[in-house]
Amino acid sequence: MTDLAVHASGVGKVFPTNTGEVVALTDVELEVAAGEFVSLIGPSGCGKSTLLRLIADLDPATTGTLEIFGKPAKRARIDQDYGIAFQQAGLLPWRTVAANIGLPLELHGTGKAARTARVAELAELVGLTDFIDRYPDQLSGGMQQRVAIARALAARPRLLLMDEPFGALDEMTREYLQSELTRIAAETGAAVVFVTHSIPEAVFLSDRVVVMSPRPGRITDVIVTGLPDARDDALRESPEYFDRVTAVREALHGTRIERANER
Ligand SMILES: Nc1ncnc2c1ncn2[C@@H]1O[C@H](COP(=O)(O)OP(=O)(O)O)[C@@H](O)[C@H]1O
Ligand SMILES: [Mg+2]
Repeated sequence: MTDLAVHASGVGKVFPTNTGEVVALTDVELEVAAGEFVSLIGPSGCGKSTLLRLIADLDPATTGTLEIFGKPAKRARIDQDYGIAFQQAGLLPWRTVAANIGLPLELHGTGKAARTARVAELAELVGLTDFIDRYPDQLSGGMQQRVAIARALAARPRLLLMDEPFGALDEMTREYLQSELTRIAAETGAAVVFVTHSIPEAVFLSDRVVVMSPRPGRITDVIVTGLPDARDDALRESPEYFDRVTAVREALHGTRIERANER
């Protein structure tokens, strides 16, 4: 079905090392629908980044097949079907905010006028209109991440791949950007595959939370959050939010945690 943003089937990844083979991923089955927000969560070393890198065609899978909008991952990369953002914003320090956001368009050969218009639109989308002439070192960490998100969206990808993009930010900024990201994802209609090791972050952002376990990395649970579309601060204090946080925590621990009110 070509409507799927991501379709991983029987995906495995083995890294050969000096001390033998590391089985990073095994038997990964994952379908992400167009426009869907899916988080990958699991302990450090469970293969979250590896899976994202396979989807992004930054590394080849050892086994299985991977399709992005019904295309091989490599084709999707060439077609700029997805944008990527990492924990480090990875901005070019000698380029202004505008020139950083417009970089993918430049590489794609988009003309200057179209680029300027698109950069203005993206700056507006991420709330940086007043900062497009600044340089990265004149921005806070949160603003730098917003630039990285705008850059990832420049070529209008239908899929956004994010690896702990808010991992280095303080809690307040992080919660603010989580709300912003859900708004941006809704406005652009892009599907998102989001790697995190934060349970509240995964629940707040996602339609589904994919739980992974280490050695060898595999998917052990998928939790549908079923939360309302409006992802605001009120949601963080709602019973259904707490309920999903508990469900993900229990899935991560692989066993039900006994709750006081159940005794
Ligand atoms: N290039 C590599 N060479 C050898 N082992 C690797 C490489 N990349 C990742 N690994 C191993 O694969 C496993 C999964 O890593 P990773 O995907 O980075 O985990 P996570 O992002 O969930 O913390 C780990 O055991 C890690 O050491
Ligand atoms: Mg990682």
